[in-house]
Amino acid sequence: MDRLHVRGGRSLEGTVHNAGAKNACLSILSASLLTKKTLTLSNLPALSDVDTMLEILQRLGTVVERETQDGVVRCRTSEIAEPTAPWDLVRKMRASFEVLGPLLGRCGRARVSYPGGCLIGVRPVDTHLRGLEALGARVRTEGGNVLAEAPSGGLRGGDVYLGTPAGSSVGATRNVLMAAVLARGTSVLSSAACEPEVVDLAHCLQAMGADIEGAGSPTITVRGVDGLDGAEHAIIPDRIEAGTFLVAGALTGGRVRVEGVRPDHHSALLDAFVRAGVPIEKGGDWIETQTRDPRLDPLRPTDITTQPYPGFPTDLQAQWMALMLAVPGVSIITETIFEDRYMHLPELARLGASVRRHANSAIVCGGKRLSGANLMASDLRASAALVLAGLIAEGKTTIHRVYHIDRGYERIEARLGALGATIRREQQ
Ligand code: UD1
Repeated sequence: MDRLHVRGGRSLEGTVHNAGAKNACLSILSASLLTKKTLTLSNLPALSDVDTMLEILQRLGTVVERETQDGVVRCRTSEIAEPTAPWDLVRKMRASFEVLGPLLGRCGRARVSYPGGCLIGVRPVDTHLRGLEALGARVRTEGGNVLAEAPSGGLRGGDVYLGTPAGSSVGATRNVLMAAVLARGTSVLSSAACEPEVVDLAHCLQAMGADIEGAGSPTITVRGVDGLDGAEHAIIPDRIEAGTFLVAGALTGGRVRVEGVRPDHHSALLDAFVRAGVPIEKGGDWIETQTRDPRLDPLRPTDITTQPYPGFPTDLQAQWMALMLAVPGVSIITETIFEDRYMHLPELARLGASVRRHANSAIVCGGKRLSGANLMASDLRASAALVLAGLIAEGKTTIHRVYHIDRGYERIEARLGALGATIRREQQ
């Protein structure tokens, strides 16, 4: 397993281009199963999670043509011989569970293994399954798989509630949306997730001929159509990746410009930056942190609470904690989406960070000297936070099990290196 070696103390400077959104493209790739025609996607990020999803599609019978440049991929699934997504692939990432809705919609039946993914909480799939049942599917569990079957005339429109104890489910919204586009009649999805990645999926489905209204709001209305066509669609930029690079700029007091972003997707992060005193500039498709001397011009400790979109994203919680480690004073970070999303705490403690956990909050006593250490990456976003913390720790920080980072960040060492970070990958 590869390792990353980071030497702290350099202020970052330069421009980085925002890659396509992992969380949008994975479900949009699943949506290609809904048509016999070709779905052409651009701005696909080069990530191991994307490779996994393409492998799942290929096992289902999709012919995949991938261009190395511009992140273009063409998917064509003329036929699905067996609508089964096996454990050996689905266990690698939770998003692969979102082939269930499209397979059920197109084939009338599907067998998909219970998902794996980052260990950040229990992460049930009950909302997905109840949603499909509301469209008439019969769902049962057998041998670790979900078996879903549509009634003889196919799925029918229904009223679907997508709320969970922690807010709306993003994955369930997308899974049910993809099943509903080919159902007979009208479906009303309430308490639907409003995340930009749901909207991007809806835009792609609309380009394929689906009849969808209200995506981006808590109520989505879907009028089923008989079939979907091929289409071309460009994936939106990855707001979590952009946010991570911006935090890296703020953390090191550097000028980091992220280009190709959607600033309107970043309201909560930008608000947190303002509250913290991070100097920021932005334009139509870029955001930039401004140079600041961290000793003369320290930031303010700033509390955040993770919330569904447009609130502060849970996927940036760990990175925000890394930023607060550099800020003298106490800040409180509260996680409301995933109950166990604090795997980075013991690793940050190895650097000398002072963070205590109380219920679903983490109390950060920032401004302490951090000194480099060996750290273990535990999940995707926590790993990014360890890299960020390494940028301000004295000496060398080594992050083991880097494959977690490769799931969601394209060549992170090359891109941070281009901004002036001292970071190197050791291949094993
Ligand atoms: C997606 C994102 C992930 C992000 C999360 C929240 C992808 C591939 N992943 O994950 O990066 O952190 O949204 O923004 O897009 N829940 C249930 N029952 C269910 C489903 C979910 O109780 O059937 C709960 C979860 O345990 C969690 C909350 O709902 O507490 C939100 O989860 P959900 O929005 O479904 O997250 P994912 O779609 O898995």
